[in-house]
Amino acid sequence: MQTLEASEGPKAEASPLKMATFSRIDTFSASHRLACKSLSDTENEKLFGPCSRKHGHNYKVVVTVCGEIDPISGMVIDLKDLKAYLKEAVTDPLDKKDLDTDVPYFANVVSTTENLAVFIWENLQKHLPAKTLHKIKLYETDEISVVYRGDAPDPSAFAAEGDQRELLSSPKKSAITSQYFICPARFSV
Ligand code: NI
Repeated sequence: MQTLEASEGPKAEASPLKMATFSRIDTFSASHRLACKSLSDTENEKLFGPCSRKHGHNYKVVVTVCGEIDPISGMVIDLKDLKAYLKEAVTDPLDKKDLDTDVPYFANVVSTTENLAVFIWENLQKHLPAKTLHKIKLYETDEISVVYRGDAPDPSAFAAEGDQRELLSSPKKSAITSQYFICPARFSV
C-alpha cells in the first residue's frame, strides 16, 4: 500500500484572504433629454424618440465595492465612508438636477443611463481606495438597468449578472451591459 510522504518544506501559514463584496443602494431624481448636439431636433427625435424631449427619472444606483474582510473590524469598507462617498460623488452632483445643463460632464456627452453609470463610476473612483470599486448598477426604471465595471477586460465577468447585452467600447475597453437595446451613437455627442 502506498503512503504519501509529508512535505519537508516549511509549512505555509494558513491565513487565506477572505474577500467579499459590499453594496449600498442610493436614489436620486434628475431630468434630462437625449440629444446629440451634432444632430438636428428632427434627427434627435428620429434617433431617440420621445426621450429626445425633456423628462425625468427616479434613478436607483447600486454601488458595489470588493475587498478583503478586515480581520480586526470584520468589514470590507466602513459603511460611514461609503455613504459619504456616495453623497459627494452621486447625490450631491446629480439629485434634483438637470443632467444636461447642471452637470458639466454632460455638456458634450449624451445623458444616457449608460453614460450616467460611467460618470458615477469615474466620480466614485476619486474617493474610494484604488481597485476597490467593483460594479455600478444603475436603474433608470424597474425594468431598465445598466451595469458598468470600468476597464473590465474579461467579458465573461458579466455572464453571472443575468444581463442581456454587453458592449466593449474602444478605446478604453470599458464594459457596459444593458437590459435594453443600445444604439452605439448614444455613447457620445
Ligand atoms: Ni430618460
